[in-house]
Amino acid sequence: MKKLLALLLTMGMIASLAACGSGSAPASSGQEPQKEETPAAEAEAEETEAVQEDAAAAATQPAAAQTAAAIDKIVFGTNAEFPPFEFVSSTGGAIGEFDGIDMAIAKKMGEDLGAEVSINNIEFDSLLIALQNGQIDAVIAGMTVTEERKQSVDFTTPYYTATQVMITKEDSDIQKATDMEGKTIAVIQGYTGEISVKKLGYEYESFKKGTDAILELINGKADVVVIDSATAQKYITDNPGLKIVEDPDQFESEEYAIAVKKGNTQLLDALNAEIEKMLADNYIAELGDQYAVSE
Ligand code: ARG
Repeated sequence: MKKLLALLLTMGMIASLAACGSGSAPASSGQEPQKEETPAAEAEAEETEAVQEDAAAAATQPAAAQTAAAIDKIVFGTNAEFPPFEFVSSTGGAIGEFDGIDMAIAKKMGEDLGAEVSINNIEFDSLLIALQNGQIDAVIAGMTVTEERKQSVDFTTPYYTATQVMITKEDSDIQKATDMEGKTIAVIQGYTGEISVKKLGYEYESFKKGTDAILELINGKADVVVIDSATAQKYITDNPGLKIVEDPDQFESEEYAIAVKKGNTQLLDALNAEIEKMLADNYIAELGDQYAVSE
């Protein structure tokens, strides 16, 4: 009787183990039907599944190897018109001809993750569309995290804090943001500077590049340029006769982060780990010094 009971118990255990084993597979694929509305969605679901399987296989390896195995190539999109974060260097930069803080960060990320990194230099306005199209994997462009942008893309942990400032001629009477009323204001198309001026309710002219707006100021066709602090610092260093006017009451602080396609958690997680490391060991602060950012 005891023996029979033991046998029954053992059989029962085997049966429940088997149930467990076969139960786990449908459980994980059971999340997918929500997505499987169209054949395209189905293909996407399969892709997701493959990635999950890779991750599961890699989970037995050490963390570093796991990341390296997962991401082997990153195409970063930028707009190399934004010193000291990204600019074209005639003498060669961190990645090909591209240099600056962001380019050095992208390069380091590639080295750490064992991924091949390349740069796609496009208009600032087109970066988020290019990301959604899959033309690029991530945007690294001194890009400020905004609620509006968060609707269409996912952002990493911020790596830099900035603010909008005004650049004027040295003899300008503009002392605060509201002094811009009635003046000729120049901004750069699609930048948060444009959004700030729009919010203040002033008219403005928008330019494709920061240097175009600065030229307008130098030529006396504009009275003020509104742009990010570190870039403004670079422009006034390069162009004697200009100064920076700050107004922290009107211009809130902004945070730069890298953008990835919505839902690309694999890349987002990998980049976040990198940013946290670079903030913790002061690598980004060192880059700030190297590329001379004074706030
Ligand atoms: N921080 C501003 C923004 O996000 C300006 C960024 C411009 N970056 C560039 N690479 N051109 O709108």
